[in-house]
Amino acid sequence: MAEKIILSGIKPTGRVHLGNYFGAMKQLVDMNATYAMIADYHTLNFIQNKEEMQNLIVEAVIDHLAIGLDPKKTILFKQSDISAHTELTWIFDTLVTVPYLERAHAYKDAEAKGKEVSAGTFNYPVLMASDILLYDADVVPVGADQKQHVEYARDIAGKFNHVFGETFKLPEPFIMKDVGVVPGTDGRKMSKSYGNTIPLFATDEEITKAVMSIVTDSGEGTPTNVYAIHALFRDKKDLDALYEEKKGKYKDLKEALIEDIKKFMTPLREKRKMIAADRDTVLQIIKEGSERAKAAADKKLLEAKKAIGVILED
Ligand code: ADP
Ligand code: TRP
Repeated sequence: MAEKIILSGIKPTGRVHLGNYFGAMKQLVDMNATYAMIADYHTLNFIQNKEEMQNLIVEAVIDHLAIGLDPKKTILFKQSDISAHTELTWIFDTLVTVPYLERAHAYKDAEAKGKEVSAGTFNYPVLMASDILLYDADVVPVGADQKQHVEYARDIAGKFNHVFGETFKLPEPFIMKDVGVVPGTDGRKMSKSYGNTIPLFATDEEITKAVMSIVTDSGEGTPTNVYAIHALFRDKKDLDALYEEKKGKYKDLKEALIEDIKKFMTPLREKRKMIAADRDTVLQIIKEGSERAKAAADKKLLEAKKAIGVILED
């Protein structure tokens, strides 16, 4: 049986946090992903500043290398380096309808906030479908909130195949079961946009401050938000014993969590520092990754262009 193609992407929108790591990035490493993509064109919907964009892209590459992604095994590339992504998006745009895109959660959320939504935000799932379908991805590891987008990619592949003949593989989302949604310090989904994160490469001070600020309920003696984050660092049996022993002692439990996060974070932070010190190597890695990805993407795009009839054959 042929090896499964595993692909995921992350928007380089700022410091990554525990939600990004346990919900998505870690899986890329654990699963030995075939492709890891820096989704800079998706990010353009939010970051419209040259220096900031350049900086965020480089930081995102460093983040991936620091968590142990091996660029020899996983093709780490930048979306904007490969024009096939935007070109295929146009082809798909002619197949999807406006009401269909209006049902996307991300669009509905943006609309509900009463902001004017850019055409890029509206079109977000179509670009993401191109990201996935260009590489014949079988499996797309993502956090639970991205499941709908992977389903959009499936629908779009199905529609294209129906209209023009079998061309694209139908991808499956992969959501790590015992992680699902990582809660933030306020109990809502951990997210950069809520300001409730624990950064992945946080300093000791930042860890202490964030954990101490975790909102606790006055329920059964188990602070649910603290427990949910703690479960990422210890096995359940061990954790349940600790929470039983320290029932109601929220400060002690938070201190135990701080210790566990520090133990986990210190080596990671050191590794990141070393990688960041060699910027030339970092830039070379992304350049080579994009070259490798481009070869696959261009081939697939040509197949699609042949299928729709824009390539004239003699
Ligand atoms: P943010 O909400 O902080 O802006 P992104 O939308 O950039 O995060 O998400 C990047 C990846 O991390 C996605 O695959 C997403 O599903 C995953 N992810 C983000 N936050 C969480 C969370 N709290 N729990 C689990 N996965 C998450
Ligand atoms: N939309 C994803 C997010 O916000 C990032 C992304 C872009 C992606 N293209 C992708 C994820 C392709 C998986 C596959 O997290």
